[in-house]
Amino acid sequence: MALSRINRCFNLEDFRDKARSKLPAPLYHYIDGGADDEISRYHNTEAFNRYQIVPRCLEDVTQINMQTRVLGCTVDWPVLLAPTGMTRFFHHQGERAVARAADRFNTMYSLSTLSTTTIEDIAACTNGPKMFQLYVLRDPAINEELIDRCRLAKYDALCLTVDTVVQGNRERDLRTGMTVPPKPTFNSLLGFAARPGWCYRYFTTPALEMANVAHHIAEGSSKVSSLGQYINGQFDRALNWHAAEQIAQRWQGAFAIKGIMSAEDARRALDIGATAVIISNHGGRQLDTTPAPIELIADIADAVGGKMDIILDGGVRRGTHVLKALAMGATACMMGRPYLYGLAAGGQAGVERVLDLLRNEIERAMILSGRTELHKLDRSFIRR
Ligand code: GLV
Repeated sequence: MALSRINRCFNLEDFRDKARSKLPAPLYHYIDGGADDEISRYHNTEAFNRYQIVPRCLEDVTQINMQTRVLGCTVDWPVLLAPTGMTRFFHHQGERAVARAADRFNTMYSLSTLSTTTIEDIAACTNGPKMFQLYVLRDPAINEELIDRCRLAKYDALCLTVDTVVQGNRERDLRTGMTVPPKPTFNSLLGFAARPGWCYRYFTTPALEMANVAHHIAEGSSKVSSLGQYINGQFDRALNWHAAEQIAQRWQGAFAIKGIMSAEDARRALDIGATAVIISNHGGRQLDTTPAPIELIADIADAVGGKMDIILDGGVRRGTHVLKALAMGATACMMGRPYLYGLAAGGQAGVERVLDLLRNEIERAMILSGRTELHKLDRSFIRR
């Protein structure tokens, strides 16, 4: 049943519609929404349309190679799965389903500090490439513990998110009742009551908590509903370059900084020993009216390209978007919302179909544009 429903999704936007029909409204809008006027959220995808692909013809395209190396790992195709908080909220299979799907498609999965599954449980359920995403909390002992646990669990990379020292202003959440603490308004209760299937799963599966930090949080406050309160209360606003350097040194492995939006900051990331920068405005969920990541790649690639990996995060919905990012100088792309829509629509099978569709789109676009190797893509691939 679920399978036939997801097989009727033919692109990532179809999965967005499907997720909307499956999730209680407050949860759908929590995933789908952005900050303030949602200008960055919209623009992240729309900006790809400003670039047009210039195909080459009469090239032998019988062999297409989409493999790439990023953060010290070889992946079969250049789209990594971004960290997302509270994933079990959107489907009871949660982070495990996403990590297993990433493994089956041989790409990298990123686990969030605010996940509902532990670092160790994810390590136990997949051998695929894995990254842990760190939010820096005010208690340095917790940060150090998280880093050390990742090393023990043999994560391949660590990613420090730097754009979320306070939570963005997400007005859809205020309207739907996805507030902190949650407000049982008429609208929010209606939203949940309209999705009895989701409610049944919610009440018959283990309670949700912020699994990686639950043991540090006072009784009751690790409940996922207090995410915003947690972010605003616990995240370290004093986070600076020196602290980032210390984190890189403690980790001593592949290290990415997520939330870089300028060539100057990319250079500083390189100076403190980062392996990668993730160009990201957090899917337009934090500071609104920041540029779309695709618009920043050229400057950042000109500043640090060849010396570190450059990962674009934000707005990717089509295979052509990925190729445009790579042509501008990105090593790989990352996506978050689309796989959450797939998860909400059909659990692991839904995530796998999202990955399959996107991977096929990239391959088809390479064939149709006469390109066989990702590393040969350059700016002659596109025209503005
Ligand atoms: C968490 O990272 C969020 O964007 O909600």
